[in-house]
Amino acid sequence: MSESNEPVSAPTAYADVYRRSLDDPEGFWLEAAAAIEWTVPPTRALDDAAAPLYRWFPDGRMNTAANCLDRHLAAGHGERTAIIYDSAVLGTVEHISYAELTDRVARFAGVLRARGVGAGDRVVIYLPMTPEAHVAMLACARIGAVHSVVFGGFAARELAVRIDDARPAAIVTSSGGIEPSRRVEYLPAVAEAVALAEHAVGSIIVKHREGFATSLEDARAAVGSSTGSRWLDWDEAVAGAEPAAPVDVAATDPLYILYTSGTTGTPKGVVRDHGGHAVALAWTMANIYDVGPGQTLFTASDVGWVVGHSYIVYAPLLVGATTVLYEGKPVGTPDAGAFWRVAAQHGVRSLFTAPTALRAIRKMDPEGALAAEHDLSELRTLFAAGERLDPETQGWIGDLLGVPVVDNWWQTETGWPIGANPVGLEPLPVKTGSCTAPSPGYAVQILDGAGQPVPAGTEGNIALRLPLPPGTLTTLWGDDQRYIDSYLSAFEGFYATGDSGSIDEDGYLFVMGRTDDVINVAGHRLSTGALEQALASHPAVAECAVIGLADPLKGQRAAGYVVLKSGVAVDGEAGLQALLDDLRAAVRSTVGAVADFKQVAVVEALPKTRSGKILRKTMRQMADGEEHTVPSTIEDRSVLEALAPVLRTGR
Ligand code: COA
Ligand code: AMP
Repeated sequence: MSESNEPVSAPTAYADVYRRSLDDPEGFWLEAAAAIEWTVPPTRALDDAAAPLYRWFPDGRMNTAANCLDRHLAAGHGERTAIIYDSAVLGTVEHISYAELTDRVARFAGVLRARGVGAGDRVVIYLPMTPEAHVAMLACARIGAVHSVVFGGFAARELAVRIDDARPAAIVTSSGGIEPSRRVEYLPAVAEAVALAEHAVGSIIVKHREGFATSLEDARAAVGSSTGSRWLDWDEAVAGAEPAAPVDVAATDPLYILYTSGTTGTPKGVVRDHGGHAVALAWTMANIYDVGPGQTLFTASDVGWVVGHSYIVYAPLLVGATTVLYEGKPVGTPDAGAFWRVAAQHGVRSLFTAPTALRAIRKMDPEGALAAEHDLSELRTLFAAGERLDPETQGWIGDLLGVPVVDNWWQTETGWPIGANPVGLEPLPVKTGSCTAPSPGYAVQILDGAGQPVPAGTEGNIALRLPLPPGTLTTLWGDDQRYIDSYLSAFEGFYATGDSGSIDEDGYLFVMGRTDDVINVAGHRLSTGALEQALASHPAVAECAVIGLADPLKGQRAAGYVVLKSGVAVDGEAGLQALLDDLRAAVRSTVGAVADFKQVAVVEALPKTRSGKILRKTMRQMADGEEHTVPSTIEDRSVLEALAPVLRTGR
C-alpha cells in the first residue's frame, strides 16, 4: 500500500459505518448482535442507568463457549479445524476439529463442575501455549465461571497477587512451558504462589508434560497440607468426567478478568462481559481482520495477553475460523523463518504479531531470505499491535511480504482495536506512522491537560468519549471506584487511554506513547511501580526509580537507579557487581523473567521536586539523549548534574 493524503473523511464505506456507529449506537450494535446466537436475543443495546458504568445488551442471554463451539457443530461444521497447535519447540503439529474441541471443553467443564466450580466462581489459568489453554478458558465460559489467565512469564509473587484479588475456586496449570533455551517449571511457582497468597484455593488441576523436573506430588509436598488445596492430575480428572452442557448467562455477566499493569505495583483486573465481547469480536473479524469461517488466523502472541485472549482464542472461534496456536518464538525456534514457515504450512490468511517480533526477525534475516523460501500466496494482510509500529519496520516488512501492513492500536482495557485500518470493511490509504482511523464505536478526541480539544496535528492526551463500545472493560474486578478513579476522572465524560498522540486534518490517528509510568518491553506491558517495589524490597536499598528507555529491539527496556541505605558497604568492583546481580535477581524472582531487567546502577541520590516526586521524565529524557526540561520545582539541581553521566552511560 502506498502513502496517500486521501482523507479518511472522504465519502467511504468506512466513513458511513463509523458515523452510524456514533449517531445510532443502539441500531448499529443491535444489528451487529445478529452475528451471535442468543438464547434470549437482546431488545436493547446500551444500558446507561448506572453511568459512567455502562452495560451492553442488558436483557440478552447467551453463552460464549456455545457460540465458539456447539453452534458450529449444529451448523454441520464439526469436522472443520478449530485449532492448529503448532509447537516449534516440540516439532509437532496437531489439528483439532470443532467437534474434538467441543468434546474436550465439555469434559473439562465437567471436571470443574465436579470440583464445585459454578457460575460466577473464578478460575486462575496459568498455562503455556498448549491447547489446554483454550480448553480451560472455554470450559470456564461454558459453565459461567470467570477465568483469569496469568502469563507464564510472571513469577510467583505476581501470581499470588492475582490469586488474592480474584479469589479463585481453582487453578489450572501444567508442568511448565518450553523456552528456546530452557524449560520453565511452573509447579514450583504455583506452589510458592499458593503458599504466599492469603486466599485458599480449592483445587489445583495440573496437566502433566514430559521432561519437567517437578511432579504434582513434589509441588503438593512443597506446599504441605496448610493451604487445604486439593491437587489433581488433569488427565485422570478428565477420564472420569461427565461432559457439561453450556449454561445460559446474562450478556452482562463477567466472562473473564485479565490483570494488566497500572501505574502502581498493584495490577488492575480488567473485567470483560459475555455478550458485548462476543458481538464486538465477531464484528472485528469481518471488518478489521478479514478472516471468516474456514479461513485461518495466526496470532503470534500468548494467551496470557489480551491479544491472545481476543485473537488466539475467542474471535476466530466465534466466527468458525481456524486459529493457529503457535508455541515458539519469532527467532530461535529454529530460526527467523519460523513465522513464514507456519504461515505457508497452514495457509494463513491474516498474520498478527508485535513490532518487536518483526524487528527481531529483521535483525537475524535483514534481507528476508527466509521468507523467500516459503509460499506465502495465501497471506493477505499482516497486522501489528502491542506497541508503536515504527515506520522503518513497517516499510521493511511491507516490502518483504508485499501485503498491506496494518498497525492496530488498542489496550487490555478495550479488548479490540481503538484504531486500525478496517481492511475487511474497506482498505483505507495508509499513512506510515499512523494506525489509520478510529474504529466504529470509539469517539476519539485529543485533549490538552485541562481537558480541552487541541487543534488537528497537535499532540495531546488520547481520550475516548463515553460510553465505550461493547467488548471494552465494564469495570475493574471488585472495585468500580478504582475504575472510575483510574480512567474516568481525568477528563469529564471521557475514558483516558493513558496514551498520547494526535489526529491530523484527514482524521488519521497517530499514537506516540504512554503519558504515565507504564512501559512496554518487547510488547509486554509492565509497571515501573512493580519493578520499583521489587528493588525496594532488597535490604540494601533505601530508594529507587525505574524508567523505560528507548531500545532498538524491544521498543523499551527498563533501567533502575538505586540509592543504598546509609551504612551499606560495597566491597570494591566485585562487591558492586554482586549487589547489581542481586538486584536483577530480585526483579526476576518477584516480577518475572519477562521484565528482562538488566540495566541497574547504584547512585548517590535521586533528583526530586520540592514535594518529593522523583523526576522520572527528566531522567528518561536525559538517558535517551532527548532535549529535556527541568521543572522549576526541582529541589536540588546538583543531584541531577551528578546523575547525568550515569544516565548517559547506564552505569
Ligand atoms: N514463560 C516463561 N518465561 C518466559 C515467557 C513465558 N511465557 N516468555 C518469555 N519468558 C522469559 C524468556 O525465557 C526470557 O528469559 P531469559 O532472561 O532467561 O532469557 C525473558 O522472559 C525475556 O524474554 P523475551 O521477552 O521473549 O525476550 P527474548 O530476548 O528472549 O526475545 C523477542 C525477544 C522479541 C523475540 C520476544 O520478546 C518476542 O517474541 N516478543 C513478542 C512478544 C509478543 O508477541 N507480545 C504480545 C503483544 S501483542
Ligand atoms: P496492553 O494493554 O498490554 O495491550 O498495552 C497497551 C498499550 O500498548 C497501549 O496503551 C499503548 O501504549 C501500547 N500500544 C499497543 N498497540 C499499539 C500501537 N499499535 N501503537 C502504539 N502503541 C500501542
